[in-house]
Amino acid sequence: MRVRPMIVSVGLLAGALVVVASSAAQAAPTRYEAESSPAVCTGTIDSNHAGFSGGGFCNGNNATSGFAQFTVNAPTSGTATLGVRFANGTTTARPASLVVNGSTVQAPSFEGTGAWTTWVTKTLSVSVNAGSNTIRLNPTTSGGLANIDYLDFEVGGTEPPPPPPPGGILGWATQAGGTTGGAGGTTVTVSSFADFRTQAQNSGARTILVNGMLSGSGTVEISANKTIRGVGASSGVSGTTLNVEDMSPANVIIQNMNIRGVPGNDAIQIESATHIWIDHNTMSSTIENDPDFYDGMLDITHAGDYVTVSWNIIRNHWKTSLVGHSDDNESEDRGHLRVTYHHNWFDHTFERSPRVRFGETVHVLNNYYSNVNNNADSYAIASLMDAGTLVEGNVFENVQQACWSASGYADSDPGRLVARNNSLTNSGPCEVNGTVAPIPYSYTAENVGTVKASVTAGAGAGKL
Ligand code: GCU
Ligand code: CA
Repeated sequence: MRVRPMIVSVGLLAGALVVVASSAAQAAPTRYEAESSPAVCTGTIDSNHAGFSGGGFCNGNNATSGFAQFTVNAPTSGTATLGVRFANGTTTARPASLVVNGSTVQAPSFEGTGAWTTWVTKTLSVSVNAGSNTIRLNPTTSGGLANIDYLDFEVGGTEPPPPPPPGGILGWATQAGGTTGGAGGTTVTVSSFADFRTQAQNSGARTILVNGMLSGSGTVEISANKTIRGVGASSGVSGTTLNVEDMSPANVIIQNMNIRGVPGNDAIQIESATHIWIDHNTMSSTIENDPDFYDGMLDITHAGDYVTVSWNIIRNHWKTSLVGHSDDNESEDRGHLRVTYHHNWFDHTFERSPRVRFGETVHVLNNYYSNVNNNADSYAIASLMDAGTLVEGNVFENVQQACWSASGYADSDPGRLVARNNSLTNSGPCEVNGTVAPIPYSYTAENVGTVKASVTAGAGAGKL
């Protein structure tokens, strides 16, 4: 019964993203290939790393002298949008001066893209004169430039595309009947923890508006068909575990809440439950010396399935998000544990963001990871025990190890992991291994160049 509206809303979201993409492309930028005169490449024109357009790319000398220069024609003076396509197979950013007609106007950095065959486009805005203009990238460090494929150039028309609208449900929670929470039921507002618990545990479809920061204890056993939504930017719960357990479908949405780590327990626990959307929450703890001071922030176990985790901030937590709790639980978990993580900001989350066992395909899309580097064992993503994880369009900054897969992790055997269009700065590699099952739902990945801005602007409570 409630499937139809969900499909409509997914369609609208996808439609909105397509509109952004097509309006950016409307005036059709002109493409200047780095290998074609009058472009200049102080280095070599190479073709050994697949994925470039045209006949090759500019591999500038690895020195500050190794520049790439384009000569472009502007129909009028004004603000031009530049799309610089590049690949950087190292994990160190390659900064450059952007020089327009001889004057340095910006200092863009060309982050690691994960591989020399992974090409991404960085969008920049500059002022240009009518007629001919030179646009040059001068590397500012001795590593030289990233490999440069082409420059897309367009005057007027478009500014860099705005971030995608942070709304709507996408991903695994839309599948197999969808997730609508308390839609169709009554709406109640609670402002005490006791009332919150009563309403959350009562049966029947209900939207529960949580007003204020409610501190509690123990576990709240959320019953099926609930939307739990914070009022404003600073409502939520602390001291309690939100448990979604033994319900298929659970059909639960937790949205716009401030949620605190719980000493010794999980903050959100999803066990043997399906169809859950965790969206726009700010989940935070404190960094304690003991990694086990808190347990998980958002753990999905015992064949939990059809879960989407979107636009959350998860901050200052060790054991962030487990997908599959044990190497010994294959018979229950294989074929389940399907989770989409998109547009979340993982900041100071020192492990398990997520750590996946058996689930396939877990889709880690357009998230921003910052400062996942508490010690030598810190990591962002691990795909283990033959899990299949697709890591796509994420930004990793100061992350000790972006991904583990082929090496296994701790006692867990290797899993499979495909990485695509990620950006790594000052971060250990995203280790890949094998192939993963295709994603069954439609989606438009955001260009990795705008993900950090979108996520920092749109994630967390108070942004709905
Ligand atoms: C490798 C890679 C080149 C790249 C170079 C670099 O040699 O094959 O394409 O330009 O590294 O570090 O700049
Ligand atoms: Ca080079």
